[in-house]
Amino acid sequence: MLKIENLRKTYKTGVEALRDISIKVEEGEFVVVLGKSGSGKSTLLRCINRLVEPTSGRVFLNDEEITGASSGKLRQLRQKIGMVFQQYNLVSRFSVQTNILAGRLSTVSTAASMLNLFPQADVEKSQQVLDRLGIADKEFDRADKLSGGQQQRVGLARALMQDPQLILADEPVSSLDPSTSKQIMDLLAEFNQRDGVAVICNLHLPSLAREYGSRIIALNEGQIVYDGPATDLSETELNSFYDSQ
Ligand SMILES: Nc1ncnc2c1ncn2[C@@H]1O[C@H](COP(=O)(O)OP(=O)(O)OP(=O)(O)O)[C@@H](O)[C@H]1O
Ligand SMILES: [Mg+2]
Repeated sequence: MLKIENLRKTYKTGVEALRDISIKVEEGEFVVVLGKSGSGKSTLLRCINRLVEPTSGRVFLNDEEITGASSGKLRQLRQKIGMVFQQYNLVSRFSVQTNILAGRLSTVSTAASMLNLFPQADVEKSQQVLDRLGIADKEFDRADKLSGGQQQRVGLARALMQDPQLILADEPVSSLDPSTSKQIMDLLAEFNQRDGVAVICNLHLPSLAREYGSRIIALNEGQIVYDGPATDLSETELNSFYDSQ
């Protein structure tokens, strides 16, 4: 469903963050990307939907090319890709409902979204999604009044509202304690298994990588140094892809 061919990213500073990355992800896969700090994990996720513009190479979603797509086409393709971030990327003074609905509304003006003039169908859908994520009672709370785990549930809700085919999660649990991390990872696993959403998730903990990834991709200095099942890796090999802690 996702095909990445010979992807390279060289930043203006001259840093070669990605050097010739080729990956195919099939429907229903849960891919964990790991590698030391600076190995290119975030750059890779961001190049997939062109939050960072690749220097060269091609990315396809279901045989439609993301790289080189016009802005209208890009917007349409991005609809199928949900993003989840380490720092949640919520607008802190907005309500939970506004946060999960405002991003979705390319058709509704900013003024309308400020006044919470959302289509009724979207409002109902957002309530179902919040209910599923266990934060139905937080709908009208300000985002910055929530705990970290609740804020990340809002991040997941925002992604789910798009009915994504693919979720890109960049260190989604790095700011959370272990038990909250597990709850968030379990939700991602549920989207993957129950809804068939493919997931590509950057993680900084080897234990979580093994528990959740059906496939591990390890990066080192912008190149793939391992791509295969977690079960084929020894503990020592797995740990070698991480910064020593
Ligand atoms: N906007 C930028 N401009 C210039 N260089 C950048 C930029 N973003 C990242 N880099 C560089 O590109 C390389 C890869 O960075 P990236 O953030 O993708 O790594 P990462 O694996 O996500 O690291 P971390 O685990 O610390 O999040 C690093 O050398 C980084 O300094
Ligand atoms: Mg990163």
